[in-house]
Amino acid sequence: MDSLKRTIKFGEPIIGEEEIQDVIKVLQSGWLTHGPKTEEFEKVFSEYIGTKYAVAVSSCTAALHLSLMALGVGTGDEVIVPAQTHVATAHSAEFVGAKPVFADVDIASGTITAETIKAKLTKNTKVVNVVHFAGQPCEMDEIRNLCESKGLFIVEDCAHSLGSVYKGKKTGNIGNTGCYSFYPIKQITTCEGGMLTTNDQRIAMLASKQRGFGIDKAVQERKIAGYYDVPYLGYNYRMTEVEAVIGIIQMKKLPAMNNSRIENAKYLTSLIKNIPGISYTEESNEIVNTHFFFQLKLEKEYPTSRNDLAKKFTEQGIGTSIYYATPLHLMTYYRQKYGYKKGDLVNAELIADTTIALPIGPRVLKEDLELMSQIISENSK
Ligand SMILES: Cc1ncc(COP(=O)(O)O)c(C=O)c1O
Repeated sequence: MDSLKRTIKFGEPIIGEEEIQDVIKVLQSGWLTHGPKTEEFEKVFSEYIGTKYAVAVSSCTAALHLSLMALGVGTGDEVIVPAQTHVATAHSAEFVGAKPVFADVDIASGTITAETIKAKLTKNTKVVNVVHFAGQPCEMDEIRNLCESKGLFIVEDCAHSLGSVYKGKKTGNIGNTGCYSFYPIKQITTCEGGMLTTNDQRIAMLASKQRGFGIDKAVQERKIAGYYDVPYLGYNYRMTEVEAVIGIIQMKKLPAMNNSRIENAKYLTSLIKNIPGISYTEESNEIVNTHFFFQLKLEKEYPTSRNDLAKKFTEQGIGTSIYYATPLHLMTYYRQKYGYKKGDLVNAELIADTTIALPIGPRVLKEDLELMSQIISENSK
């Protein structure tokens, strides 16, 4: 096998001279947080997603928390969460005193479905928190119909899916709120950072106050400096101007960066389509998947174990990861608190044991994808 002359990281931020120059300008401006750059980033972001409002925050975790607060979720309420997700999706329910209830996921896509949600509904269910896993949009028509018929809110966790489209609408513009992460390896980065999108003016107003201690007036809105009231409970979940200015530049680059993810996934799929014993999500006319990573599933017939395959990638200088090696119902905190055990959510557990996440971002070249395909092929015999 021809080795690469370089190593490929699983995920890598793409920061250019433009971001660096604009960060310097912000640092020199003296206005470091909660200012005009944050407002500009929100405007650019809401226009891109197609929602009326976008509220910039310090992380996706903050956006998830603020969403549940704005939807009035609290003690006694249940929030349905897929078992295959980042722990932040579930923790946000705990933050407001609600109970996260884990639902199983579709084995092929890793996403929560109307069927798996139905199995977990109780009279206390208030919210369904969907996760567009690895960039693959959930089947939102079915989920929305179910939620509408039961009077449930939908929070979309879009931490993996910035730019993904479901039936002509961007993810994050389908439920009551959309929550994004700008962690360094996501489709765009602001170092740390997040965004809450919504079409609901009340949610946008509450989120924008509650991200800043629940204060009624931003500094620039106060007639006399120092005078303000606090009508709400709130946190310090603000985005800095440095993060916002990076976000503005990153949004300009996003369409090209996402195209490269989509093209890379198409090319890899074309290379591996005849290899036996593997599966992955298929292209469809109804969705666009911007592929946070390429999720490869090893079926029973594949003779190499997932962990051995990961080692083969490492030997060839290619970084991989696992999303997620432990489903949330089996994480110590949740297992102990709610008494889950292995076997409770079988698809989520199978995904944890048999999938590998491959790099697919803009820095990955055709020759890298060809080597990935070679590794998958040689280990299939
Ligand atoms: C699905 C999902 N939700 C939420 C988060 C939390 O994002 P943040 O680190 O911006 O709080 C992540 C982080 O990677 C994630 O993958």
